[in-house]
Amino acid sequence: MRRHPLRLLITAGPTREPIDPVRFLSNYSTGVLGHTLVAEAQRRGHAVLFITGPTGSPPPRGVKTVAVETALQMQAALERAFPAVDAVIMAAAVADFRPARAAAQKIKRSGVAGGLKLWRLELVENPDLVAGLATRRTRQVIMGFALETSRALANARAKLRTKQLDAIVLTQMRGPRAPFGDTTVDGAIVKSSGAVQPFRRLAKPALARRILDTVERLVAQRGKTSSAA
Ligand code: CTP
Repeated sequence: MRRHPLRLLITAGPTREPIDPVRFLSNYSTGVLGHTLVAEAQRRGHAVLFITGPTGSPPPRGVKTVAVETALQMQAALERAFPAVDAVIMAAAVADFRPARAAAQKIKRSGVAGGLKLWRLELVENPDLVAGLATRRTRQVIMGFALETSRALANARAKLRTKQLDAIVLTQMRGPRAPFGDTTVDGAIVKSSGAVQPFRRLAKPALARRILDTVERLVAQRGKTSSAA
């Protein structure tokens, strides 16, 4: 099949939210699926802009990569790139909260809570990056991810709706830390049309192919509706 090359924005990895110069809040995201998506998109001839939080992987070759640390930095990079792309694949595990203040100096054990051995860290909510993009889309197809531990499909559907996404990739927790770094994943691709495509023990390269098939189809459908309009 001859493919129409697309301009894709792919995000991956966790964000890090600084507490002080030596500590941060983050999550277990490894960025593996994001890197796999970039490789598959390159293989298909798409132009990719890759925005990534800190992961153990070196930046992919031959792809414009923007390395960020915090959710707010990721938001700035996304907003710059968003107007020029056909689709966004938001695989990053963005931290929902950040410390209200990042201390300029290392927080000392002796300075915490006057001997009570209790440290209250104040957090503020980060913006929902993908939902923010969705409110400003012109023609862009927007795909998000939902990592769930319970009521998986219902939660994924709710995120699809409230974030106004075109599709969402549900991935389910299997073990205590799965699917972070796992080679296979369970879940489903859910489209805003209501269609659900479940998968079980799917290897990440195969999942990347399904995700890109879905994005390509959604972009093609959008093209048809906007030229018909
Ligand atoms: N996301 C985002 N900005 C955030 C949090 C999440 O853009 N501040 C995006 C993620 O990249 C993902 C989707 O939203 O594509 C769902 O992320 P998830 O962490 O599963 O959902 P949350 O909205 O954070 O909901 P909750 O933590 O309550 O499950």
